[in-house]
Amino acid sequence: MSEAYIVEHAKRYALAAFENDTKKNYEAAIRNYEAAANLLERAVKLYPDHPLRDTFILYIRKYRKRAAFLRKLMIPQGTSGEEEDVYVEDDRGESDDATVEREESTSGTLKPPAFVQTEKPNVTFDDIAGLDEAKQAIKEAIIFPIKRPDLFPLGWPRGILLFGPPGNGKTMLAAAIANEVDGEFLYVDAASIMSKWLGEGEKNVKKLFRYARERAEHGVPVIIFIDEIDALLGINISEVGGEVRVRNQFLKEMDGLQDKDKNYHVYVIGATNKPWKLDEPFIRRFQKRIFIPLPDKATRKKILELYTRRLDLAEDVDLDLLAEKMEGYSGSDIKDVVQAAYMITVREYFEKQGEEEKPRPVSMSDFEIVLSKRKPSVNRKMLEMYEKWFEEYKAL
Ligand SMILES: Nc1ncnc2c1ncn2[C@@H]1O[C@H](COP(=O)(O)OP(=O)(O)O)[C@@H](O)[C@H]1O
Ligand SMILES: [Mg+2]
Repeated sequence: MSEAYIVEHAKRYALAAFENDTKKNYEAAIRNYEAAANLLERAVKLYPDHPLRDTFILYIRKYRKRAAFLRKLMIPQGTSGEEEDVYVEDDRGESDDATVEREESTSGTLKPPAFVQTEKPNVTFDDIAGLDEAKQAIKEAIIFPIKRPDLFPLGWPRGILLFGPPGNGKTMLAAAIANEVDGEFLYVDAASIMSKWLGEGEKNVKKLFRYARERAEHGVPVIIFIDEIDALLGINISEVGGEVRVRNQFLKEMDGLQDKDKNYHVYVIGATNKPWKLDEPFIRRFQKRIFIPLPDKATRKKILELYTRRLDLAEDVDLDLLAEKMEGYSGSDIKDVVQAAYMITVREYFEKQGEEEKPRPVSMSDFEIVLSKRKPSVNRKMLEMYEKWFEEYKAL
């Protein structure tokens, strides 16, 4: 088997898997996901230098996870009443629009597309330190209009963009919104919309919005959260021109939400670490743009408290001083530092096999050792880029 052959067939199995997944032919979907994962695994082993190696590994994991999830869902299994659509080699090529139509008309209960995550994660606004302005802006733009649309005769923004350096709570905020809002929350990673491995980008965008609109027409407010949204415009592994069509489709769908008669409660929140990758028409669709900055000192202290809460700390640990020293560190940097400091004590504990009952408390010097090695992941130049971008686009 050649490399191209393996990859091509993995792709076909994957496409068959999505189709079966959408049609609720779970048994067939599981088999197809497994087959796709197995082939990709082979590709990874046989061609360790393949440029898409990391992508393959990612999708092997995704397919296995989805297969495992479906397996759980199968007990007990209802009859779907639809034909199985198992991929056999040299079966027909890509799915076309007719397939999409069919999915829509035959599925009695509406089901989100396979690349969407709908589980509500266990995070609330209170678990997120700081970001008070962002939380307030989100309440005013989403939570209040959903609760009392009558108080918003002038409408509300359909598009909200969260942007800022990585590791400061954008994805976390999304999770919290899901919990604060009584409605349907659709989490989508933009990379999965774009990837050939999860179907075609342009069609995925269509499916996503169609599903959201239909739910909204049934009276359920829908929040679509698109993480790393810059990927919708980025270079990707699929055919040349694919990303342009995805972008255009996205703009079209965003405009469709503005329909004055329907007053859809569909909100689109995009998050990005690289706002400068977005073009102007794209940015315009997000009437509200919220900067998620690095934590200030008070917030750093809160984050430190949050992550040391369950640790045994020595008396000399001064979180206030640590917060002071950690200027420039992101929320996720801070979490990493705490973890690394704690690991020093765990490592010691295992080295002294059995001498102690548990690791000793984490001391100030553990933190200092870690801080001397672990520098902030966001540098000044990057921060200036965010500021410059915001200056330019805040009044667009
Ligand atoms: N404000 C915060 N409060 C608590 N934890 C935070 C905060 N910001 C970041 N973190 C930690 O860092 C991790 C990464 O944050 P995330 O929301 O994924 O960042 P982003 O999406 O902005 O890149 C989170 O899972 C959380 O553990
Ligand atoms: Mg994120």
